[in-house]
Amino acid sequence: MNIDTAKNKIAKLKSSLEEYNYRYYVLDDPSVPDSEYDRLMRELIKLEKEFPQLITKDSPTQRVSGTPLSEFKKVIHKIPMLSLNDVFSLEELEDFGKRVHQRLEISKPIQFSGEPKLDGLAISLLYINGVFTQGATRGDGSVGEDVTNNVRTIKNLPLKLRGAGWPERLEVRGEVLMPKSSFEKLNKAAIKNHQKPFVNPRNAAAGSLRQLDARITAKRELMVYCYALGEVSENFKLPNRHKLRLEMLQKWGLPVAPEIELCCGIKGCEQYYQHMLTIRNELSYDIDGVVFKVDDINLQNKLGFVARAPRWAIAHKFPAQEEMTQLMDVEFQVGRTGAITPVARLRPVFVGGATVSNATLHNQDEIERLDVHIGDTVIVRRAGDVIPQIVAVIKDRRPPYAKAVIFPTHCPVCGSDIERAPGEAVARCTGGLFCPAQRMETIKHFASRKAMDIDGMGDKIVEQLVEEKLIKDIADIYHLSVEELIKLERIGEKSAENLINAIEKSKQTTFAKFLYSLGIREVGEATARALSLHFPDLESLIKADEQTLQQIPDVGPVVAGHIVHFFQQQHNIDVIKRLLDAGIHWPRPEQNNTADLPLNKQSWVITGTLASFSRDEIKEKLQRLGAKVSSSVSKKTHAVVVGESPGSKLTRAQELGVPVLDEAALLALFSKYELT
Ligand code: IVH
Repeated sequence: MNIDTAKNKIAKLKSSLEEYNYRYYVLDDPSVPDSEYDRLMRELIKLEKEFPQLITKDSPTQRVSGTPLSEFKKVIHKIPMLSLNDVFSLEELEDFGKRVHQRLEISKPIQFSGEPKLDGLAISLLYINGVFTQGATRGDGSVGEDVTNNVRTIKNLPLKLRGAGWPERLEVRGEVLMPKSSFEKLNKAAIKNHQKPFVNPRNAAAGSLRQLDARITAKRELMVYCYALGEVSENFKLPNRHKLRLEMLQKWGLPVAPEIELCCGIKGCEQYYQHMLTIRNELSYDIDGVVFKVDDINLQNKLGFVARAPRWAIAHKFPAQEEMTQLMDVEFQVGRTGAITPVARLRPVFVGGATVSNATLHNQDEIERLDVHIGDTVIVRRAGDVIPQIVAVIKDRRPPYAKAVIFPTHCPVCGSDIERAPGEAVARCTGGLFCPAQRMETIKHFASRKAMDIDGMGDKIVEQLVEEKLIKDIADIYHLSVEELIKLERIGEKSAENLINAIEKSKQTTFAKFLYSLGIREVGEATARALSLHFPDLESLIKADEQTLQQIPDVGPVVAGHIVHFFQQQHNIDVIKRLLDAGIHWPRPEQNNTADLPLNKQSWVITGTLASFSRDEIKEKLQRLGAKVSSSVSKKTHAVVVGESPGSKLTRAQELGVPVLDEAALLALFSKYELT
């Protein structure tokens, strides 16, 4: 091949790869299968090897390149990277609004750009003639570090801008983030390899970006969102509204958070704050508040800066997700499967919007890794619905009376030996159902909402029933009487009757729920469902061997082993027989031919809250109709169910033209298939 042909070919390959990358990472809407992308990439690598003189900085092969650095070069920010003033309450936000109005001498509401306050680290991205040329950290605001090679590895960052008409020099400011799911994956791997996990996604992003070897950064799943401009060629005419500037960046292929919205007046800002607070946990990345910026650039210029922060913007911070407190004690809880979990008893502290007095310490390794002592000052993290965790110990503050935490060798409840299988992180009580704690947890699980759903039979009632020896196992539940129940503390005749009715009602269930409620190890809702679809009845499941079980999607050798082991225990078979004799039944066969289901293989997404059903209930009903319920909207999504306070998924659906259903339409669908 001659050099001209190669040049042509390379240009074509680069532009296709860029396009696919943009569709995949920026639009989240892949246009070709991964195999096609890989094929073009290999072809490009081969050509560039043959003609190294044709390699350019913006080639997709150059995302991971260069040899490890010995240190980062310094970068001077021509326009300093400033910070934002914070407010923590609606009153303070209103004060900010008043100050803006007074200074501008404007009385009618003004427009603000409402934005998520991305919890990562600030980055400056320089494009020269549309080509990504330099990435720099904020540093002290005036001088940062040159992390170009690392930034280049970030997949949603365009190495070349799309379209045309960009200024010769364009500096964009944004935030580098690690998505929550990538953070969890990274920490899981770290713990498995006996390495120290990161405290939160922000630290993980910072640690990943400040690597001298870009090959390490390339292995971390980072992303970037842009929210401001830095230096721009003087002669270039920019839109005079902040939001329009962001839209311009988006048009050039730069990623911008989809949640950014214009808010009308401080009232609009307050609504935006509340909305973002509700969807905070649904977002795939961490935010620590919202930012409001006066949208009109002329007004921004009039307001100017004070010290190192603009007068035209404010960060309204959410309640902190990390706080400091003291570890008072550690207790060891015995779970349903005998797993021993160390639970930290803390001096109560307000964190992540709730008062926390307990946190999990996971397992023995975690206690050793943290080297936590009773009496220590610790950092607790409570993010969303995740169980509060101790993420760090402040060793300098260890009091002289601090006591090491000793992991027990015998079950604190039944005294049986505690065993830890080789290679496993979890230590277990070997008492099985002879251990009252395991029995208790088995009963709680059986009665819980996603299992047999016995309304009113919460943890407290189960504890009383077991302690008063009214029930010993799950089958005993169906022999309780009103007379027995009213003997319990705080239960009157009416609630006793209600509970008996709920127990009666629970007898009508589904095969999947019944299987889930048995509490077979590692058989969660999804596996129970898969089993119920595969086997026409309970007998054939009981008889199935490990090989047969492994044919079912998601059932591997471990799960298959647990299932077979469960049904080999005579006491389990006895309990099942007593349950069925008591009248537990389900419609059978429960649709085992999924192809006949009305929503077979369709992908559905739910956003916002609905009045008539919980999210789990909707999910379960949609699955019964054959649909898969996924958490993000793409072009392949069949429909999005929208409730109150919907998240960005609604916007995304509208952008992609995905059909949207409101609650009434959903109920109509359910009633058509008799699911209400
Ligand atoms: S604008 C002059 N917008 O917050 C204003 N910053 O406390 C410059 N941040 O260093 C910042 N999300 O790292 C802006 N939507 C957003 C932001 C944001 C997060 C960070 C940024 C900045 C810090 C200031």
